Amino acid sequence: MTKVDVLLGLQWGDEGKGKIVDVLTPGYDVIARFQGGPNAGHTLEFNGIKHVLHIIPSGIFHTDKINVIGNGVIIEPRIFLQEVQALAEKGVDATKNLYVSKKAHLILPTHRLLDAANEQAKGNAKIGSTLKGIGPTYTDKIARCGLRVGDTLEFDFRERYEMLKAQHLRTAQTLMFDVNSFRIDGMTLEQYEEQWLASLETLKRFQLINSEYFINRCLREGKRILAEGAQAAMLDIDFGSYPFVTSSNTVTAGVCSGLGIAPSSVGRVMGIAKAYCTRVGAGPFPPELFDETGSRLCQLGHEFGATTGRPRRCGWIDIPALRYACMLDGVTDLIITKPDVMNDFEQVRMCTAYKIGDTLTDEIPFEYNAVEIKPQYVDFAGWQQDLSGTADYAALPEKLRTYLAAIERETGINIMAVSISPDRKDVIFK
Ligand code: IMP
Repeated sequence: MTKVDVLLGLQWGDEGKGKIVDVLTPGYDVIARFQGGPNAGHTLEFNGIKHVLHIIPSGIFHTDKINVIGNGVIIEPRIFLQEVQALAEKGVDATKNLYVSKKAHLILPTHRLLDAANEQAKGNAKIGSTLKGIGPTYTDKIARCGLRVGDTLEFDFRERYEMLKAQHLRTAQTLMFDVNSFRIDGMTLEQYEEQWLASLETLKRFQLINSEYFINRCLREGKRILAEGAQAAMLDIDFGSYPFVTSSNTVTAGVCSGLGIAPSSVGRVMGIAKAYCTRVGAGPFPPELFDETGSRLCQLGHEFGATTGRPRRCGWIDIPALRYACMLDGVTDLIITKPDVMNDFEQVRMCTAYKIGDTLTDEIPFEYNAVEIKPQYVDFAGWQQDLSGTADYAALPEKLRTYLAAIERETGINIMAVSISPDRKDVIFK
């Protein structure tokens, strides 16, 4: 019996999970997504091609591997169809090696409408949602009125769809939302709905499975499985900076409920963090930089959302948040990405503690959103060296290795690999 290895983000997302999954895929038979939906944007680059995946697992470019969209994921059929088409243009036929859980919930056009209505109703307290319908879809799942992929095969699907849609429109009315002016990708709700319904037919052509049985059967057969996380620990619905979070469990615990495996079936937990830190959307981010250095990180790191194009907020690495994520996730191996973005920096800073009032702490406070947090820094000399072409950990500049060793010391977790460019070939294993 094998175990499911897990790969997840330890910060606020956008750590480079897609690329690392793609690099690790040759060592696995099955790649499975277990939570989130098209709010994710996993970028892969190889052979000069750049590709962004939203719902489909990042193992899809390896045609001899099975990719699974687990029950914990939520699917927007039209976005799914667009992804399938974009892959087809690159010569990848996803129908062959992508299985979809019948228990995965569907994002309806009116879930996206409600996302916009909820954000509008929040005024200045907006979450900064990607507006893909994530919150409303998970809300319906928990409220036991959602529609699942498997339901599309039932004779009364359309009837149930219309009932749920009517309920959503009533809610939008109570939120004083102007449905007639609402547009999704430039389309009215009716226009979008027509395309959405047509996209269901593509979804139905995929192998729709009871993925919990499939995954557990694979484990019994000794197959190697990698669970690919989306978003990250600090956006977890329970442990992130609530309410500025996404609506799923992004931590390792989410793998068990999102794929249907027992906790004892979890193997290695590989956590990814950038060598600095970014966040998209609203919410606390203590070591955020509002100065020239922050803009340099944004520009040099191409820190613009892969799903929304929004500029990401940038700052120094946040050790209290990283330790918290390692604790929640049970991280066994660290992967650090993008140190190359800071190649020219004279100095690199590390936030090792928070000062709240007169108290120093390395715990994430319950009042994360409400209190003033002064990040406490330890400074490191920049390595001021181009990293391109480095193939060996020992050949990395000594000053960078000192910085990486400090991350290991602060978290108590060994670094397994460092990624020094967006390209799949530039991952250095330690
Ligand atoms: P939602 O999940 O689209 O509702 O967004 C909730 C919050 O999570 C917002 O601050 C988003 O910017 C953030 N978020 C959601 N998905 C991602 C992601 O894949 N990367 C980074 N941030 C994300």
